[in-house]
Amino acid sequence: MSSTTTESGAMTKLTMEELAAVSEPRIVVAPPGPLAQEVLARDNRVTSPSLPRAYPFTPKRGSGSVLEDLDGNLFLDLNAGIAVNSTGHSHPKVVEAIQRQAAELIHYSASDFYLPIYSEVCARLDEVAPFSGPARAFLTNSGTEAVEAAIKLSRYVTGRQNIIGFYGAFHGRTYGSVTLTASKAVYKRKFGPMLPGIFHAPFGDGRGFGLDLSDPDGDGFASIAYIEKVLFKRMVAPDEVAAMIVEPVQGEGGYIYPPDGWFQELRALCDEHGILLIADEVQSGMGRTGKMWAIEHFGVEPDVVLSGKGIASGMPLGAMIARADLMDWDLGAHGSTYGGSPTSCAAALATIDLIEGELMDNATRVGEELLAGLRELASKHPSVVDVRGKAMMIGLEFDTHDRMDAVEKAGFKRGLLLLGCGDSTIRIAPPLNFRSDQAVAALRVLDEVITDAEKG
Ligand SMILES: Cc1ncc(COP(=O)(O)O)c(C=O)c1O
Repeated sequence: MSSTTTESGAMTKLTMEELAAVSEPRIVVAPPGPLAQEVLARDNRVTSPSLPRAYPFTPKRGSGSVLEDLDGNLFLDLNAGIAVNSTGHSHPKVVEAIQRQAAELIHYSASDFYLPIYSEVCARLDEVAPFSGPARAFLTNSGTEAVEAAIKLSRYVTGRQNIIGFYGAFHGRTYGSVTLTASKAVYKRKFGPMLPGIFHAPFGDGRGFGLDLSDPDGDGFASIAYIEKVLFKRMVAPDEVAAMIVEPVQGEGGYIYPPDGWFQELRALCDEHGILLIADEVQSGMGRTGKMWAIEHFGVEPDVVLSGKGIASGMPLGAMIARADLMDWDLGAHGSTYGGSPTSCAAALATIDLIEGELMDNATRVGEELLAGLRELASKHPSVVDVRGKAMMIGLEFDTHDRMDAVEKAGFKRGLLLLGCGDSTIRIAPPLNFRSDQAVAALRVLDEVITDAEKG
C-alpha cells in the first residue's frame, strides 16, 4: 500500500507531502489490482467507448509528480496528464487558490458581467504574451475552444475564409479544430463533411511523417515551397487565406520540433500576404519547453497564441490571446457561459506565478538531466532511434510503433506513466517540478523496460 509501516506494524497512509517526496515507483499489487478491476468493469459498461484509454490506470490521489492508484501503487508521472498538470498534482498553492475562490464565488458568467478575476487573468496573460505590443484575451474551457475562437476571429478580422494547417497537427476534436487536426485519420473518420476552407501543408522538415523536406542548400524549406507552389498556385489564392495555425512543437503528432529557420520563413510568407500566424501552444506553452511559449525559441512573434492544458494546473481553462489591435470584433460576436470561470481563473493565477517564479527554471535544469540520461539510453539501446526536445517536452522515438507500445505498457506495470504520440514516440513530459531524484529513478526503470521490449 502507499503507506509506511509503524513500529507496531500498523500501516499508515502517506500524507500528501510524503507522497510528493517519493522518488521511486512502488508497485504493491500488479496493476490493475482488484479495486482498479472493479472500476474498469463499471467503466466498460457505462462510459463512451470512444475514449482512447492507453492502459488501465485508475488514479486516486496525486501529489507533485507522484500518483497513487486505487490499489495503493505509486507511479511517477512522466506525462503530467497529457501536459496538463504543469505545477504537479494538487500543488498546495493551487489548491489553496481554488478553495479560497470556491468559498467566495463559484460562478458568474464573464460574458455577461464584469467578473474581476477574469480580467485579472487576461492582464496576467498580457504580461506574458509573446508579443512586443499589448494583448487581449478571450478565455475558454478547453484547448479546442481556444482554437475555435481563433478560427472565428481570424475569419472575422481579415474578411477571408480559408485557413492553412499542418500535417501531423493536433488541434482538438470539435468541428473546426478536428478539420485542422491532421495527426490521425481516425479523428475524422465517419464525421465528414468537415469545415470548408481548410488546407494543409507539411510541417517543418517532414520528419513527423517520414519525408525529407529539409533545406540542405539553405535556399528555403520544401514545406514552405509547397505552400507557395502548390497551395497558393493551385488550391487557394493567398489573399483569401485568413490564417495559418501551427503548433510550434507538434505534440500529439510526435513531439516534433521544426528545424531552425523554418518559422522565419513561415512568418515572412504570412507577412507577404497579410495572413495571420496563430501559434497553438495548448501543449507546448506555459513553460513546458523552458520558456513561457515554445515559439520564443524560434525568434518570431505570432499574431495570436492559444493556451490550454497547463495554464490552470488541471482546472478547465483555455485562452485565445491576440495582439490587442487584432481583437476587433463586435459586441456579442463571441462569448461563453463558463469560459474563464472563477475557480479556473484562480488556479491560473497561482499556476502562472509558480511557472514564472521557479518551475520554468526547474524544467530546464531537470529537463537537461533527463535529456542526457535518455541520450545515454539511446546509445545502448538500438531500438531507440531519436531523442529530442527541450526542458519537459522530450520525444523518445523507437524503431517501431509496436516497440513504443510495449515500452508504454511495460512502464505502467513498473510504475511509470508514459504516453505515446506520433507513430512511435513516447512523450517525456512530466510536471515542471519533476525532481532530479525522480529523473534518476525514471531513467533506471525506462532502461529496464526498454531492455525487456528489445528481447521481445
Ligand atoms: C496543441 C493542442 N491543441 C489543442 C488541443 C485540444 O485541447 P482540449 O483537449 O483541451 O480541447 C490539444 C489537446 O491535446 C493540443 O495538444
